[in-house]
Amino acid sequence: MKRRNFFKFGLVAGALSLVKPLKGATLIGQSFEEKANGPIVVSTWIHGMEANKAAWEVLSKGGKAIDAVEKGVRVTENDLTNRSVGIGGRPDRDGHVTLDACIMDERSRCGSVAFLEGIKHPISVARAVMEKTQHVMLVGGGAHKFAVENGFEAAKTPLPEVKKEWQEWKKENKDLFKKPEINHENHDTIGMIAMDVNGDFSGACTTSGWAYKLHGRVGDSPIIGAGLFIDNEVGAATATGLGEAIIRIAGSHTVVELMRHGYSPLEACKEAVNRIIKKHDDLTGLQCCFLAIDKQGNIGSYSVYNGFNYALKTNSEEKMVDAGFNRNW
Ligand code: GLY
Repeated sequence: MKRRNFFKFGLVAGALSLVKPLKGATLIGQSFEEKANGPIVVSTWIHGMEANKAAWEVLSKGGKAIDAVEKGVRVTENDLTNRSVGIGGRPDRDGHVTLDACIMDERSRCGSVAFLEGIKHPISVARAVMEKTQHVMLVGGGAHKFAVENGFEAAKTPLPEVKKEWQEWKKENKDLFKKPEINHENHDTIGMIAMDVNGDFSGACTTSGWAYKLHGRVGDSPIIGAGLFIDNEVGAATATGLGEAIIRIAGSHTVVELMRHGYSPLEACKEAVNRIIKKHDDLTGLQCCFLAIDKQGNIGSYSVYNGFNYALKTNSEEKMVDAGFNRNW
């Protein structure tokens, strides 16, 4: 296994020779770039460690990336203590837990569900949309009907403890719109991207979205090209953070297109973050993070603020990696 870690740009001359300087980007803090041969799975935040283990059961046996990413993120969806993914998630302002998810494979086939309530595994419903219908995206009642008709497990939401927390929140926040604080204690989404033993990419992205959002709000996670994008000739990217900002720049598609034009995964993620920064006057609490792999097995990640990290699993490594970032919280 040949692998390189690039620590702290500017300190490693070798890294500088391999990475094009990025115009206009401020670089503060650590920026890691990884490289792996063989299968790779990476996913956002600490919950990615357990999810990666499940994905690895598929990848290590020579299985397909699409099966790995679905199996992987189902672990997070199944974790009832997770307040930002799956049925343990926090509700919207009206008390409804509405789930968003999408999946994409090496043939650019994709499926998505949004504003889906009361179904345990939205990622598997998204895969069924991809495999069983002519469509890419089903939302709300239509997505729910499709899920029930196709035998997907139902779930009662919100969980009692989550409902209690929401009721308390409502008493304190009658007219306020709570902006989420997205950091490692309060991560939002699991985005997972993987390359299998054949060098094929797939990805999955799933979330309960912005806590106490307006009823009907949909974030980036189920939007192909925003929360997730795969182009098997180039690589894969996923996003986490404030979905509205990620949608504005078609974030994950932007990262993959930049890689197509020669940017490394780290450079591409950094440029996408830079675009978000340029397009927003007020960056208060505006955390957005990108994670990408290219066809050569290079892995990179970058976020607006510090605190974002991702879980990595390869033949030789299993660890959390801190992303590069533009500014401190
Ligand atoms: N990134 C998840 C969301 O904004 O809903």
